[in-house]
Amino acid sequence: MSAKPMKKHTLLRAALTIIITLTLASFACGAEAADTWKTKCAVCHGPEGKGKPAAHTQDYTSADVQAKFTDEEAIKTITDGKKPMPSYKDKLSADEIKALAAYIRTLKK
Ligand code: HEC
Repeated sequence: MSAKPMKKHTLLRAALTIIITLTLASFACGAEAADTWKTKCAVCHGPEGKGKPAAHTQDYTSADVQAKFTDEEAIKTITDGKKPMPSYKDKLSADEIKALAAYIRTLKK
């Protein structure tokens, strides 16, 4: 009988750990990045990343264009901005920026 409360506690802790892990994981996952892309980036880069002449953005579905910048450069541009692109340092976490840089690679056809 005396072991029961202990067991309950352990289960509760395990459940909490799982919930916290899943919550943290969802922030870094692609679905989150895809959402951010649509709400914050598509206005200039297009929903599929094809670019918009009016915004002077390049076609990220092209392998040649994708080869023009490294992941590090993409992260730096999203973090600090690059005229006319705004900086997202105060709006997105480092993990969200990293996930976006990875998401951009998936736009390549
Ligand atoms: C106000 C318009 C605008 C918005 C909003 C914008 N960008 Fe850009 N972005 C540009 C322009 C212009 C360039 C330079 C031309 C190009 O590479 O397409 C650029 C370049 C980039 C590059 C290339 C980096 C490099 O070093 O060459 C990446 C990656 C990028 N943007 C990602 C994003 C992401 C992610 C978002 C949303 C969080 C975003 N951009 C929002 C206009 C914008």
